[in-house]
Amino acid sequence: MNTKLFTAPLSDAEYDAAAEIIRSGGLLGIPTETVYGLGADALNETACRQIYEAKGRPQDNPLIIHIPDESWLPRYCRDIPPAAYALARAFWPGPLTMILPKQEIVPLRTTGGLPTVGVRCPNHPVTLEIIRRAGVPIAAPSGNTSGRPSPTTAGHMVEDMWGKIDGIVDGGPCGVGVESTIIDLTCTPPRLLRPGGLPLEALEEILGEVAVDKAVVSKLADGERPKAPGMKYRHYAPKAPVTVVTGDPVQSAAYIQDHLTPGAGVICFHEFTGLFDGHIVHDLGHALDKAEQARHVFDALRAFDETNVPEIWAQCPDSGGLGLAVGNRLKKAAGFHVIEV
Ligand code: TXA
Ligand code: MG
Repeated sequence: MNTKLFTAPLSDAEYDAAAEIIRSGGLLGIPTETVYGLGADALNETACRQIYEAKGRPQDNPLIIHIPDESWLPRYCRDIPPAAYALARAFWPGPLTMILPKQEIVPLRTTGGLPTVGVRCPNHPVTLEIIRRAGVPIAAPSGNTSGRPSPTTAGHMVEDMWGKIDGIVDGGPCGVGVESTIIDLTCTPPRLLRPGGLPLEALEEILGEVAVDKAVVSKLADGERPKAPGMKYRHYAPKAPVTVVTGDPVQSAAYIQDHLTPGAGVICFHEFTGLFDGHIVHDLGHALDKAEQARHVFDALRAFDETNVPEIWAQCPDSGGLGLAVGNRLKKAAGFHVIEV
C-alpha cells in the first residue's frame, strides 16, 4: 500500500484529503499531544477491524474514540454524569480519556464488545481539524505495532506503519509523551484505569475520591482481569529484561552502579549519566522534572530495541504527579520487576 505523508502545516486541500481517508474507511496516523494514534472512522466496523490487523492487536482490546469537543459526548455516550462535563471543562482538550456507557451507534467492534466506550478530546489542532472535517469520531489506539513502545514522533509511526496504512500526518513530536489518563466514570467512586498525561491529583481535585485500579501498580495474577483490557498485556517491552529501581535518586543510582553487569544498558536521570561509563545510557530527564521524563520514557525504551544489551536497569521517579505514569510505563516494561532501595 502507498502511504501518503502529510506534514504540518497542512493546506486546505491536504486537510480535506486527510479527512477523506477517514471518511472512506481508511487508516490514518494522527498526531496528538500524548502519543501518535492509528486512526479510523470509529463508526465503521470494517475500518476498525483494519486497525487491529495493522497493529497486530488482540481483538478484545477496545479502542478509544476522539472527538473535537464536549458537545459530541451525548452522540456517543449515555447516562453522562455531571462529573464528566466538569472534567471536560477542566481538562479538555487534553490527555484525559473518560469511560462512559456507549450509545447504540458505537459499534461493539470498536469497544471490543464492551457496553462502555472511552472518549477523549485530544489537544492537537491538526487532529481536531481533521476530526471536524471528517464529521465522525476517530477511533485511535496508540500507533505502534502491538507490543512496541507508543510512537511519540511521526518517524516512529513511519517505522511501524509505513506501507501498511493510507496516510501519516506529521504534526511534530508529542508534547506529553505518555498516553492519556483513563478514568472510569461508570463506577463509584470513579476508578483510575491507566495513569497518563493528566496527574491523578488533578482528577482528585474535581472528583474527590478516586479508586486506583490494581493493574496500575502491580502485576496481575494469571487469569486476573483488569478493567482496562489493554493493561493485561506486557506493553512497551524491550527485548532485554528490565529491572526498575525506585527510591531516593542518589541511592537508586548507586544501587544500579553496584549491580549492573558488563554491557548492561541504563536508563537514568540526567544528573547520573556520568556514572555509567562504558554502558549504553539513556537520559530519562532531570530527577525532579517528571514532564521531561514523560517525554523521554518511550524513546529510552525504544532505543534499546536496536541494541543487544543483555539487561536494562532503570531509575524510576516517585509516584507524585506525572511520576505515576512514568513509573507505570517503566514497571510494565519490566514486568513489574521492581527493587526498592
Ligand atoms: O493518549 C492516548 O490515549 C492515545 C492517543 C492516540 O489518544 N491512545 C491510546 O489508545 O493510548 P490505546 O488503545 O493504546 O489505549 C487505550 C486503553 C487500552 O488499554 C484499552 O484497553 C482501554 O484504553 N480501554 C478502551 N476502551 C475501554 C473501555 N470501554 N473500558 C475500559 N478500558 C478501555
Ligand atoms: Mg497502546
